[in-house]
Amino acid sequence: MNLRPILLLAFAASLTGGATLAATNYASERAAIVARYAAEAKQANPNFHGFSADAGKAFFLAHPGTGRPETPSCTTCHTTSPRNYGRTRAGKQLLPVAVSRTPARFTNLTKVERWFKRNCNTVYGRTCTAQEKGNYITFMESQ
Ligand code: HEC
Repeated sequence: MNLRPILLLAFAASLTGGATLAATNYASERAAIVARYAAEAKQANPNFHGFSADAGKAFFLAHPGTGRPETPSCTTCHTTSPRNYGRTRAGKQLLPVAVSRTPARFTNLTKVERWFKRNCNTVYGRTCTAQEKGNYITFMESQ
């Protein structure tokens, strides 16, 4: 009996199974981060009604004029389309921020917090609220 087709099938099944599992893990890790921001937002505002992809989009595209002149917008580095590759001012390429393009986005709380802190300061000249962070991730999940 020729075992090769069976082995190939088993190999293919293990590959697709692994990819599905990784995607599920990313989704649940991201959901935990969003839930944490929701709890924080509710604490700050008892009328909190959830996150908005539209508000996240507006936040991403805005030029608030309150940060550093050389980084007027999130789009300065991430481009106006979240599905595009970005570029830092030093020329380093960045993976797209849209979750559909980079499934590992927003799955590590330490990384997420570090970059919100840094980028909100350079673009907005202040830290972002939990509502803004949740809106931003919700928008990127829709992209
Ligand atoms: C000066 C360039 C620059 C600007 C402007 C910028 N970012 Fe980023 N951002 C980066 C870099 C560099 C990283 C880290 C590398 C990566 O994850 O691609 C990053 C990563 C992030 C992450 C972590 C993503 C993850 O995978 O967990 C978040 C959140 C983020 N940025 C939000 C923002 C927001 C919100 C704004 C606008 C207020 C913004 N960024 C503006 C350069 C920038």
